Amino acid sequence: MCGIIGYLGPKKISSILIEGLKKLEYRGYDSAGLAVVNKGKLEIRRVKGKISNLEEIIRMSPIDGNYGIGHTRWATHGRPSEENAHPHRDCSETIVVVHNGIIENYLDLKKELLEKGHIFRTETDTEVIAHLIEENFEKNLEIAVQKAVKKLGGVFAFAVISSKDPEKIVTAKKGPPAIIGLGSDEYFVSSDLAPILGHTKDVIFLDDEEIAVIDKNGVQFMNFQGKTLSKKIDTITWDPIMVEKGGFKHFMLKEIFEQPRALRETLMGRISLDTGKIYLDEINLSPDFLRKISRINIIACGTSYHAGLVGKYFLENLTHIPVEVDYSSEYRYRDFILEKNQLNIIISQSGETADTLAALRIIKKNKGKTLSICNMKGSTATREADGVIYTHAGPEIGVASTKTFTTQLMALMLFSLYLAQVKNRFKKNEILTYFQELQRIPHKIESILYQSSKIENLAQKYFHYTDFLYLGRWVNFPIALEGALKLKEISYIHAEGYPAGEMKHGPIALIEEKMPTVAIAPKDRVYEKMLSNISEVKTRNGIVLAVAWEEDKEIREKVDEIIYIPSSHPLFTPFLTVIPLQLFAYYIGLKRGADVDQPRNLAKSVTVE
Ligand code: M6R
Repeated sequence: MCGIIGYLGPKKISSILIEGLKKLEYRGYDSAGLAVVNKGKLEIRRVKGKISNLEEIIRMSPIDGNYGIGHTRWATHGRPSEENAHPHRDCSETIVVVHNGIIENYLDLKKELLEKGHIFRTETDTEVIAHLIEENFEKNLEIAVQKAVKKLGGVFAFAVISSKDPEKIVTAKKGPPAIIGLGSDEYFVSSDLAPILGHTKDVIFLDDEEIAVIDKNGVQFMNFQGKTLSKKIDTITWDPIMVEKGGFKHFMLKEIFEQPRALRETLMGRISLDTGKIYLDEINLSPDFLRKISRINIIACGTSYHAGLVGKYFLENLTHIPVEVDYSSEYRYRDFILEKNQLNIIISQSGETADTLAALRIIKKNKGKTLSICNMKGSTATREADGVIYTHAGPEIGVASTKTFTTQLMALMLFSLYLAQVKNRFKKNEILTYFQELQRIPHKIESILYQSSKIENLAQKYFHYTDFLYLGRWVNFPIALEGALKLKEISYIHAEGYPAGEMKHGPIALIEEKMPTVAIAPKDRVYEKMLSNISEVKTRNGIVLAVAWEEDKEIREKVDEIIYIPSSHPLFTPFLTVIPLQLFAYYIGLKRGADVDQPRNLAKSVTVE
């Protein structure tokens, strides 16, 4: 995944592009670059590595103009190097392109273009776009783009400028996101909202197979066939302050601390203690279909997949409908079965994860019903699924998902309660008990966050260990997976999450004093079983760090370290147990000197397969 940006307007071009790229840097940070046209001359600056390197180059060799494009790269085709950094040029060096996506037929196109005499300078797939536009260019950039996109296979969102058709930015989309920002006498192109928010709240989301042409008179839209389109303007309510660190050292820490607010906002307006009803306005599934649902399949990647696993326990407990959970990357390659009354839930923070979108599309192609749980307004998943439940987490900049995970849990819990209600599964007023429990969660999380210094001290004690085992059962088994994922991605420590009952079937062989075990052990239906698993670790000289309920004295004798969380309805414990694990991973990453907001090799959302 990469980030693209473009600007046309009166402000200082290099600052606008650099500031925008910094906000997109979570999407990739292998190399960066920008291009502007200044007095008819195209100027390019590119570097290997982060935006700060690009900033330094521009400080030494300033760049000016009133329109330009920029890019931050997560390398797919071609190693991270200055040469492979975007923007990429045509032969005449008058056309430059920044691109997010993959041109799957680039080798065939490259061969064709080489035969026509084009000269390639990089190992990237993107360079073919510049040459293809050059090949089709007569006088007008958008017409050349229109001809070029017809030949491009794969997925792309790209922005292109040319000194031969000046004062114009042309953007084309098929797959990855492209958003147009409409300011007063200034216009933006971006892969997401963050770079635009500080300048304007009026945006237009490009749909697939659409082209936007920005010039000083405004923006025109057309489809790949050249038909003029009229597009709806969306007004975004997110505050630009949400994409700043707000006094925190890292976005990840800020986002962990934002969870009480994010959960309150995800809950707001959706439950009523007066009517005992749940309001999910955008799910777009009829009560008749909801009543008939006989099976649910949840599909997602990474942290969203872990939320899906928790959702399985919520749904099965509350609705008694069988639930299966799949990795998106596996789904389309298995012989999946879609039943008539099956609901398919797609979970994605970004709504742009390539594997998840592929699963969504294959289900739709087979006439399956889809519901997306998503954080990004206007993203592809929200536009393509039959219905949506938004998680109102606000923008998440840290690559590690934190607040988007707990708000996904909230969306799943709300949907489970909603479905259970439609299916008449509650006794009179029983649902109100759940509502009250839901409303208490943000406050309980606050009380865990107050203990952050205690968790930091634990991190100080354990940050030099190189392997960790995370154990949980039932609804906290996915939290063991999520705790281990957080630790490995942030601190590069090897960590494994396991259902505690499976330990005896293999991982117990690893237990020794050098491998601490994090045991998630609230007093729920599997508590006694967890205590037995803890004893098994202790008997083999293992160190145990437990997450347990405040009033639990029994466990204190059995473990080496303990992090207390408030008690809750047992089904709701994942909202709370995950919080200390996020903090633990953050502080360990910090102590090990890792780049916690932008861990190596990762990108915030993976828009390639
Ligand atoms: O945007 P998505 O929720 O579809 O992203 C899925 C995963 O890439 C993501 O959850 C990833 O595992 C986390 N950022 C890791 O913390």
